[in-house]
Amino acid sequence: MQLQDRKFTDVRTCGINPNHWYVVARSTEVRDRPIGIVLWKQAIVLFRDRAGKIHALEDRCPHRQVKLSEGKVAENAIECAYHGWQFGAEGNCVTVPYLGEKQKLPNCTIRDYPVRECNGFIWVFPGEGNSEDISPLDIPEWEHLNYIATVSTVDCPGHYSFLIENLMDMYHGHLHDNYQAWASAKLEKIEEARDRVDVRYEAQSYYRIDKIWSISQLFFPALRRLHPEPLDVSYVYPNWVSRLGDDFKIYCLFCPVSETQTRAYLLHFTSLNAFWRLHKLPVGFRRWVKNSLFGSAQKLLDGLVRQDVAMIEQEQQAYLQNPQRRTYELNPAIFSVQQLIRQQVEEGKYEKISNIS
Ligand code: FES
Ligand SMILES: [Fe+2]
Repeated sequence: MQLQDRKFTDVRTCGINPNHWYVVARSTEVRDRPIGIVLWKQAIVLFRDRAGKIHALEDRCPHRQVKLSEGKVAENAIECAYHGWQFGAEGNCVTVPYLGEKQKLPNCTIRDYPVRECNGFIWVFPGEGNSEDISPLDIPEWEHLNYIATVSTVDCPGHYSFLIENLMDMYHGHLHDNYQAWASAKLEKIEEARDRVDVRYEAQSYYRIDKIWSISQLFFPALRRLHPEPLDVSYVYPNWVSRLGDDFKIYCLFCPVSETQTRAYLLHFTSLNAFWRLHKLPVGFRRWVKNSLFGSAQKLLDGLVRQDVAMIEQEQQAYLQNPQRRTYELNPAIFSVQQLIRQQVEEGKYEKISNIS
């Protein structure tokens, strides 16, 4: 494809670069029953074997093409609900309960996906490239005792480009005025690389976590005071990472479902780094503090997500009704984001061709 053509590819119809690790579920969502998820139009079943190890297979029984995710786990295999055929972790048929003496197991295999479980999430690599060449996004705060986590699930009826643009465009603090997330953003600089876009804004934060009681600012607006803080947001393809001053780190982990649907997980971490006395306490106690405060920003986070999703849904509907209608953009970070999406999609296609040849 010529560079010229690429420039005009409609970003709202772009696919994904499958040669990355994508979050598909929280660890706690997969227990002793299989669950079905969709990652860019591919139905995938996740299940744990007897040892608790996670596996990801195509969500399709090759016998009659029904969903394996409606079956159950049988030892180290997954058993289809219809006739009870079982499939092992590599996707091969290992048992047919009514196999005749002279019959052989059918030679049918379904696709198995590279899958990993780390930092509280399950990650799948849907591409044909080498999954070992790249790692899932690092989230050191997940385990670190100095950070309190909150997680919000985002089910967004829109193309993933609308969601990442929303997250990279900090001028939309206007929408969240009532939640007092941040204010007065001003774009300072943009850095572009092959697989990421980093944008720095100067902004005003409402929160300062410097005293142990200041965590209550998350619940009581009267305690908040505006003060300047740098606001860094990065599109680390295919995910989003941000930092507001020293006190907050926020991630958005993307699971694009289709051109009109995106699932994502928004992770908010409040830092306890300022409390050096707390760090001297026994690890067991610190873990208790971390676990007991899990979800302390839930109301704030869910509220922000609701407001964003409502806007994105309208953008998607307006696009579907009139894809040719021009929109007006003043934030250059949005162009960088769209360019990265197009480049990554092209890169994914190129890797596919080079793997086949
Ligand atoms: S359809 Fe799955 S076992 Fe028959
Ligand atoms: Fe927002």
